[in-house]
Amino acid sequence: MQSLNDIRSTFLNYFEKQGHAIVPSSPLVPRNDPTLMFVNSGMVQFKNLFTGLEKRDYQRATSSQKCVRAGGKHNDLDNVGYTARHHTFFEMLGNFSFGDYFKTEAIPFAWNLITQEFGIPKDRLTVTVYHTDDEAYNIWKKLGVPEERIIRIATSDNFWQMGPTGPCGPCTEIFYDHGDHIWGGPPGSPEEDGDRFIEIWNIVFMQNEQFEDGSMIDLSMQSIDTGMGLERIGALLQGSHDNYDTDLFKSLIEASADATNVDPYGEQNVHHRVIADHLRSTSFLIADGVMPSNDGRGYVLRRIMRRAMRHAHLLGAKDPVMHRLVPALVRQMGAAYPELGQAQALITETLEAEETRFKQTLDRGLKLLEDEVSNLADGVDLPGDAAFKLYDTFGFPLDLTQDALREQGRGVDTDGFDAAMAEQKAKARAAWSGSGEAADATVWFDVAEASGPTDFLGYDTETAEGQIVGLVVDGALADKVSEGTEVHIALNQSPFYAESGGQVGDKGVIRTENGTAEVTDTRKTAGVFIHIAKITKGSLSNGEAAVLEVNHTRRSAIRANHSATHLLHEALRDALGDHVAQRGSLNAPDRLRFDFSHGKALSLTDIAQVETDVNAYIRQNGAVETRIMTPDDARALGAQALFGEKYGDEVRVVSMGRAAGSGKGAGGDTYSLELCGGTHVRQTGDIGAFVVLGDSASSAGVRRIEALTGQAAMDYLRAQEVLLNQVANDLKTQNQDVPARVKTLLDERKALTNEVAQLRRELAMSGGGQAAPEAEIVNGTAFLAQVLNGVTGKDLPSIIDEHKQRLGSGAILLIAESDGKVAVAAGVSDDKSSAISAVDLVKAAVAELGGKGGGGRPDMAQGGAKEISNADGAITAAKAVLGG
Ligand code: ALA
Repeated sequence: MQSLNDIRSTFLNYFEKQGHAIVPSSPLVPRNDPTLMFVNSGMVQFKNLFTGLEKRDYQRATSSQKCVRAGGKHNDLDNVGYTARHHTFFEMLGNFSFGDYFKTEAIPFAWNLITQEFGIPKDRLTVTVYHTDDEAYNIWKKLGVPEERIIRIATSDNFWQMGPTGPCGPCTEIFYDHGDHIWGGPPGSPEEDGDRFIEIWNIVFMQNEQFEDGSMIDLSMQSIDTGMGLERIGALLQGSHDNYDTDLFKSLIEASADATNVDPYGEQNVHHRVIADHLRSTSFLIADGVMPSNDGRGYVLRRIMRRAMRHAHLLGAKDPVMHRLVPALVRQMGAAYPELGQAQALITETLEAEETRFKQTLDRGLKLLEDEVSNLADGVDLPGDAAFKLYDTFGFPLDLTQDALREQGRGVDTDGFDAAMAEQKAKARAAWSGSGEAADATVWFDVAEASGPTDFLGYDTETAEGQIVGLVVDGALADKVSEGTEVHIALNQSPFYAESGGQVGDKGVIRTENGTAEVTDTRKTAGVFIHIAKITKGSLSNGEAAVLEVNHTRRSAIRANHSATHLLHEALRDALGDHVAQRGSLNAPDRLRFDFSHGKALSLTDIAQVETDVNAYIRQNGAVETRIMTPDDARALGAQALFGEKYGDEVRVVSMGRAAGSGKGAGGDTYSLELCGGTHVRQTGDIGAFVVLGDSASSAGVRRIEALTGQAAMDYLRAQEVLLNQVANDLKTQNQDVPARVKTLLDERKALTNEVAQLRRELAMSGGGQAAPEAEIVNGTAFLAQVLNGVTGKDLPSIIDEHKQRLGSGAILLIAESDGKVAVAAGVSDDKSSAISAVDLVKAAVAELGGKGGGGRPDMAQGGAKEISNADGAITAAKAVLGG
């Protein structure tokens, strides 16, 4: 017997041999289709290849695509468990040609795979073609299909469209005849809805494109899109009529039986089937980033989860069951879909938390339901307000209540339910308008009411399509906005992060077929993300589909800063103590700021410690993980939460860092665990580097740290290095200058010394501040004697020369004192020097001044002495030499 895994491989390998690239399934949340809640067929990820908008390096592809049909247009939820072929999750096998081969190859490819590889007897097969498609008809005929089993169909059953717009074309379908023991007729017959003829493969000839105005054009290239449900072909090849009777489902049903101790194939089989199906859809949705919530995709997930839980309850399970089945699912499907194994812990935890929580109200809700129903006559619908109470108070999604009543052949008054819901919304709105928020925010409440809150896709992607659900100019709704206008744009879903929790709003571009808008900021009001933008080209209209692109570089820097803030928070607690609590933060692209309770400035050692720790966790490069849990569970785990902050039913818990060795986080404990709605890096290594700019006081008892990460941190360190180099260079230059500076100083000193000498001479000539000397005649010779203060011996000869010139003929005696030194000099004019010797004059004076000796020439002599007080005595002694 071929297992479902074998069949999947056979299919993919067969097409790979025919030159097709095996392309992995895209995530269940469509990135490129704003109107689609979940991917529901194989062609969704290739949509733009058919229209020629996008090119890839292959023209032939094959895939096994994860699909969910619950919520949105295709909703099979209600039937799951009760029929043989309905699923909320299934796999679609497909082969695709993008302008490469067309009908003549596509039909034989399918025929050969089914009849040869899979060995299905040809006489069991019937095909349909679109009524005008003679070409397809003839290809089938040539392959040997008898004419009576090639059926022309004129309806939309054989013209496939992915939606109201987009690529489309006629198709041909292959049916399997289970035999006349089962009721039903061939396609197109009045009995076609019976179970005898089952469609197994749809081959679409993509050749047209449908537009919103109803027009349809021929595409420039002809392509192929096919789809075959794995579960259906699997059942057939395993000899069954029932998809749940296949190896994969049997193993899940048996796991459910084990967990609940209830016979897998007895009366309770329906509950096991529901559980098996819902286990697949919920696990795959969680693996693809959907988390249970109260609106949008998250609410669809919650509905499926709770529906499964009620069926587990019906099996008598007292404790949570679903999460215990995850290992069986991973065993079955983990090899084909590695994301399942990677998210196993998250899936298990999310299922358990949801089931634990829902258990608390499930019993009471079911009791209320029982009481309500006991008052109703057979076949009467449950009143809407009772269903609403179950929804509002006990967390029963409407379809859970419907499912519970289905077994009694009873429905719900859905109009009454809707009315009760509308009334509650009106009350919420009235309460909100009184809350004092800006009046122009009312418009966003209108948008929220009409279109629901914005579904945020930005945890997983930075590019996605969205549908415009509101254009607001100057506080008023507009249908169309043209170039140059400043506009606030709301979309049903968006990858743009709206400012909150300290993380700034995203910037980026919004493009439609007709225009472009630059988004400068993103905020949110009433759950609606408001893209603050300016139309830079063309125009935007309400209802249009748009491609949304977040500025990637900027967002990456914001992610790094936000994750670094978490590590910083923990490092501060380590360094300073557990009193450190967050008081505020800013996560911008260029820097991060963190305010925390702490009484005094950080020392350089503290800062160095914090920097070292954060960088160590960055280098550890561990995965950053996100989980959803109740606020109480998160606190029990030790998650950091903002004191006084209001949290909803669920909180997002972001964890990162596992320390080896000793200390906090040792032994695999999580280092940082915080409640946070922001966007983060995938691995701590993505932060790159972390550097603290400084610490300052923010307010009393609150410190503020500013820091940088990644390239900004590197740029900062580089700038610091340049600065240091500059300082070092300046110092070096100054050192090199020292000899030159010394020389300059010496030169300056010399010049000053000369100047001083000159001034001294001038001072001496002017009498040194004393009365100008007069010559007297001693024994017929003119004699001039002078006592000088502040003049050194060195200056005396030039003064004598000057006196000689003035005097013409005669003798001169100078006694000078400077700094405690006494100098004596004498000069005799040439005409007198044969009779009088200057040496004698000096010697006589020196002797009177406590000195000894003296010497020189007869016209000029000098000597040193000790004592100036007897200057008069010295002058008298000199006169005596002259004979006076
Ligand atoms: N896209 C086609 C389908 O879903 C093959 O049936």
